[in-house]
Amino acid sequence: MTKEIIKFEHVNKKFGRNEIISDLSFTINQGEFVTVLGASGSGKTTTLKMINGLEMPTGGKVIVNGEDLSAADLVDLRRHIGYVVQSIGLFPHMTVAQNIAVTPKLLKWDQARIADTVDHLLELVNLKPNEYKKRYPNQLSGGQQQRIGVARALSTNPPIMLFDEPFSALDAIIKQDLQQEIKNLHQKLANKTFFFVTHDINEALFLGDRVMVMNQGKIEQFASPRELVSKPASSYVARLLGTVEQNKDLWEQLK
Ligand SMILES: Nc1ncnc2c1ncn2[C@@H]1O[C@H](COP(=O)(O)OP(=O)(O)OP(=O)(O)O)[C@@H](O)[C@H]1O
Ligand SMILES: [Mg+2]
Repeated sequence: MTKEIIKFEHVNKKFGRNEIISDLSFTINQGEFVTVLGASGSGKTTTLKMINGLEMPTGGKVIVNGEDLSAADLVDLRRHIGYVVQSIGLFPHMTVAQNIAVTPKLLKWDQARIADTVDHLLELVNLKPNEYKKRYPNQLSGGQQQRIGVARALSTNPPIMLFDEPFSALDAIIKQDLQQEIKNLHQKLANKTFFFVTHDINEALFLGDRVMVMNQGKIEQFASPRELVSKPASSYVARLLGTVEQNKDLWEQLK
């Protein structure tokens, strides 16, 4: 049965007098992998932050898992939403294991449960626990650090994962590996909802069950990758896709 997990109803967001998001409505079902594309400044990060209450709408409603966020306990909410950003933000003075265990510790899990979780999550992101858990972040490559960022965001087994351009600072090959891994991870972790912001059109088409294209605080199109490339809903979407037209042979394989 499909269950609505994230719902925006006529959401507006202003910073001062600037309206950044205007009348934004959409629904995401549990288990979907949604990717979000759009020019710099189009409101992607602001939209993402309204899902975990780091920003609140100035109008309309954001409903997560049936709960209107204007009345929600936001600290509790954020424990149930994983958040991965480009800069990663691992604590440099903590080992990999300690970094992953930050929230479980806050929640006062016992040591054995924390240790098991750390090992399990490291395996999930394809890093051998015994090789990596005692290392410090500066002893890891950028791609490995980003894997730890993903593991940390998964530590409390949240039903929703938010990603804000997690791979944009990585080189193309590492990026491709991580894209495949994140896709596998989503398949493995049945029923988790991924909301993934990216600048990279191929990444959005490769990863997303549906792709949300934003422009100036509005949705231009929210559709499957195949529909997006075969029936762009606006000249903006067509132009955006036109920038990667040389990758047409990849598009043939989309669902
Ligand atoms: N805290 C803030 N105060 C004032 N303006 C803000 C704030 N946060 C974002 N903005 C503005 O809102 C607009 C949308 O920003 P947002 O970060 O959502 O864009 P984005 O689509 O994520 O862009 P990028 O691709 O560059 O990350 C921008 O014009 C930005 O300057
Ligand atoms: Mg952004």
